[in-house]
Amino acid sequence: MQRTPQHPSQAAIFSLIGNTPLVQVTRMDTGPCQLFLKLESQNPGGSIKDRIGRAMIEAAELDGSLKPGGVVVEATAGNTGLGLALVARIKGYRVVLAVPDKMAAEKVLHLKALGAEIHLTRSDVGKGHPEYYQDYAARLAREIPGAWFADQFNNPANPRAHETTTGPELWEQTSHELDAIVVGVGSSGTLTGLSNYFGRVQPDLEFVLADPKGSILAEYVNTGHLASEAGSWAVEGIGEDFIPGIADLSRVRSAYTITDEESFHTARALLQQEGILAGSSTGTLLAAALKYCRAQTSPKRVATFVCDTGTRYLTKVYSDGWMVDQGLLQRPKMGDLRDLVGRRFDAGEVVTVAPTDTLLTAFNRMRSSDLAQMPVIDQGRLVGIIDESDLLLHVTTEARHFGSHVADTMTAQLQTLRPSASMQDLRGILDRGLTAVILDDDRVDGLRFYGLITRFDLLNHLRRTLS
Ligand SMILES: Cc1ncc(COP(=O)(O)O)c(C=O)c1O
Repeated sequence: MQRTPQHPSQAAIFSLIGNTPLVQVTRMDTGPCQLFLKLESQNPGGSIKDRIGRAMIEAAELDGSLKPGGVVVEATAGNTGLGLALVARIKGYRVVLAVPDKMAAEKVLHLKALGAEIHLTRSDVGKGHPEYYQDYAARLAREIPGAWFADQFNNPANPRAHETTTGPELWEQTSHELDAIVVGVGSSGTLTGLSNYFGRVQPDLEFVLADPKGSILAEYVNTGHLASEAGSWAVEGIGEDFIPGIADLSRVRSAYTITDEESFHTARALLQQEGILAGSSTGTLLAAALKYCRAQTSPKRVATFVCDTGTRYLTKVYSDGWMVDQGLLQRPKMGDLRDLVGRRFDAGEVVTVAPTDTLLTAFNRMRSSDLAQMPVIDQGRLVGIIDESDLLLHVTTEARHFGSHVADTMTAQLQTLRPSASMQDLRGILDRGLTAVILDDDRVDGLRFYGLITRFDLLNHLRRTLS
């Protein structure tokens, strides 16, 4: 049977945007309160921003600012881009996005897979700088013919999406019994839209702001003071260095400042204790919501959001190695060179090969883990290291050498150091372009291997000591 293609604006997937489930937190300490999470991660694009992606595009189509064959341009931390790209690509628009370079690689890959064109911009500059993502996007919108700038920070269709969908859904799902909502602010669309809606149906409802440390918003809410300069934070999607044009903070009664460390650990705890895989900003919201709930003296019904799915943060929030590199996960301090080892062998964090593995296996493991070298381990003992130059040297003459054994190619002459060795000893090895192997002899069956120290590990260590 021949099927008639549907009109693109009626794509079936659009009907799955919104109407997300609400689930109660049951395993964490919520004091006298009931805490509910609205799972925005269940939207087809994986975040709360699908709602505004669809709403802003449809509003622009309606008012004629986005024409057939037009180009959607936006400044986005990733999720708005995903929401826009999901809708726009199905409808046949080109999508061009300015994305800050701190954003998770998974989001960028997802955007590219949808066919969006990405311009990576600097995360270390503020509003007014030409490389700041919002200024950059505004410039792209001026320069590209047929461009429509979604401009979530100033677009009234953004809060309207929450006023007409997120708010009414929450109100129905809580059977019209809701005392407080804990929100984060990125563009402020969620807060402004919910404020508009609940201002009508439940004017006593209290809004609580969850803000990453470094953002200016919490201080502004608590003191009315606008800091002249913002700090930086690793949480993605919320926190600001300015007050967005569409922001309505008038219903926010209190604000909590949450550190990156607490946000990331709370997101991990949510997965461990409630089985919900969420992004870093959900950690901020949940941490603030738990503090708020525990501080109450009478029972309240409180809601907050799982703003996006944690699948796009597996290599960040949920990677111990990344967390250690960022100084967000602390290992017990040893007071010696072991503190500089990036991935600990004795903690099972090191990708290795066996001497009997082929060079192809070694190459595949190095590629998939983005490594320049790997320890070679034989029955639990370190017997050598294999690195890119060993591989290159061996296979350049003949590709079939990929089938030969690691043992024939690895370096067995290792640059070893005891944990108690000096920084100068370490520099001596690293300055020659080599990798230091940290070993000691407190095991009867041989030397105990702690891991490698590369130049990258030393740089990471120096950065951690600075911050
Ligand atoms: C990842 C993420 N993006 C966006 C938002 C909400 O931002 P906006 O203020 O743009 O509605 C949140 C809210 O908590 C969020 O966690």
